[in-house]
Amino acid sequence: MDTLIVNGGRALDGIVSVHGSKNSVLPILAATILNSGTSVIHNCPKLRDVDAAIEILKYIGCRVTCEDGCVTVDSRSATNLDIPDKMMREMRSSVIFMGAVLARLRRVSLFAPGGCELGARPIDLHISSLKALGALITEEGGSIDCRAGNLRGRDIVLSFPSVGATENTMLAATACTGRTRIVNAAREPEIVDLQNFLVSMGADVSGAGSSTIIINGRKPLHDVEYTVIPDRICAATFMCATALCGGRVRIDNVIPEHVSTLTSILDGIGCRVKVGKDYIDISREGSLSAIRSVRTMPYPGFPTDAQPPLMALASKCKGTSVFVENIFDGRYRHVGGLIRMGADIKLEGKVALVYGVKQLFGCPVEATDLRGGAAMVIAAMAAEGKSEVSHIEHIDRGYENIEKSMSRIGADIKRVIQV
Ligand code: EPZ
Repeated sequence: MDTLIVNGGRALDGIVSVHGSKNSVLPILAATILNSGTSVIHNCPKLRDVDAAIEILKYIGCRVTCEDGCVTVDSRSATNLDIPDKMMREMRSSVIFMGAVLARLRRVSLFAPGGCELGARPIDLHISSLKALGALITEEGGSIDCRAGNLRGRDIVLSFPSVGATENTMLAATACTGRTRIVNAAREPEIVDLQNFLVSMGADVSGAGSSTIIINGRKPLHDVEYTVIPDRICAATFMCATALCGGRVRIDNVIPEHVSTLTSILDGIGCRVKVGKDYIDISREGSLSAIRSVRTMPYPGFPTDAQPPLMALASKCKGTSVFVENIFDGRYRHVGGLIRMGADIKLEGKVALVYGVKQLFGCPVEATDLRGGAAMVIAAMAAEGKSEVSHIEHIDRGYENIEKSMSRIGADIKRVIQV
């Protein structure tokens, strides 16, 4: 397991660019199964989760080539419809292949991805939506067998605007006869990106970004070339790192509205934030005041994925910051590492009270999950002295060479590869 060695306490300075969105490219890779042709995807980030998704595509029978951030998928020979448990467990969001394989091959068998570091991660909304579209689904001991049956479009009302369930329903609905309307759909930018990809492929999808998405199924699909949006959570991580370490950083390749809730928080606590057309210029001198309250919500609310890096920042803000994590019941696993570094945090169920301290101190910490690991890295960059962040395989799932990006803006951070 690789580790990162960080010598903290340095202000940041420089320019960093944001890679393509992990949470966009994963459902888009699943969608390449639909067109029985060639899909060329640009701005594809080099991440462990992307590698896992490509392994699933290859297992299903697609031919996949990757070159300089461009992935080409030829899905003409996709025939394999049972995805092994090991592959499903490699990446929690592999459940997103269910809707696409069902739509194309009319049948899919896979294993419930199970929980992850963030908690239970149920897929009941995915299953109930596909059943409502006519899929015949049997579940036995974690394995799921899904047959197309007579897929017909209809209204699907989600009890929670689940990102994954919205995406799976969109993908399955492209194979349904008639119109499917997803009510209370997730509104994340990654949903809009998936819609734009599907429309570029010839599908009839509209409404993404609002709470109601309409898919008119069984349109002829064709080859597609598409560029994925930038990763808003990576952008948020660089913003929090700069606010925490101090200095001035320009973050390129950003869609500013995708990080507007964070921009407003940072501006409100004393950072200088200049928002350009496709960049954010952020600087921080002197101390920051505490964050009154941060409630994680479905988009356009504050994103749960940005909560851990923001909490690392809050640990050095003057006063008490209040966090309420409303999305995942296991998303405070980074708190232990922050406390080890000297943060003063009290957990009360969904609420985290962060009492700002003057200084964090370097020490050995562990990445517990993807965004919690990012929080460890930026806290180590701000801490006095040396830190060692272990289990960075979690971080490599969603950040492309995090040590290279952070070094580029002045951090003293090196990867030690454990052989
Ligand atoms: C997506 O996960 C993202 N992953 C997550 O990012 C992100 O945190 C999450 O959306 C929320 O924005 C990808 O896009 C690959 P959900 P997803 O379904 O789809 C409950 C990261 O760090 N729920 O919107 O799994 C669920 O338990 C990752 O990049 C059900 O109860 O999120 C959770 O409490 C982490 N039943 C809430 O909904 C279901 O069938 C939100 O889950 C599905 C979800």
